[in-house]
Amino acid sequence: MYSEKVMDHFMHPRNAGEIEDADGVGEEGNLKCGDIMKVFIKVEDNIIKDIKFKTFGCAAAIATSSMATELVKGKTIEEALELTNKAVAEALDGLPPAKVHCSVLAEEAIHAAIKDYSEKRKKAAQGK
Ligand code: FES
Repeated sequence: MYSEKVMDHFMHPRNAGEIEDADGVGEEGNLKCGDIMKVFIKVEDNIIKDIKFKTFGCAAAIATSSMATELVKGKTIEEALELTNKAVAEALDGLPPAKVHCSVLAEEAIHAAIKDYSEKRKKAAQGK
């Protein structure tokens, strides 16, 4: 029921782990199942230079976390904000309908990490 790409990213997740001195951290929980994803980003010149994730979730959540981090790595903040769970699912050659809600986790956690980064930057600019 899972595509080969989903299985590959589940078995060999890219960018798994954490960044200790991350510029932004985002955490999202999936209300439907209680699974959690945490994302760490390192930003330089408005570009996501590095990204890591920790996901406590099902196979689809781990595969979408892996693919989503691959898709935004090296992208600008603006481009990363445009990432949708649909694009992630398409990049994985689709998800079973019952698993589509799992892909929302990655999109939301990445957006939350970017929001955290932007807020930190604003505060730094204000000298707080
Ligand atoms: Fe929880 Fe998939 S069942 S994220």
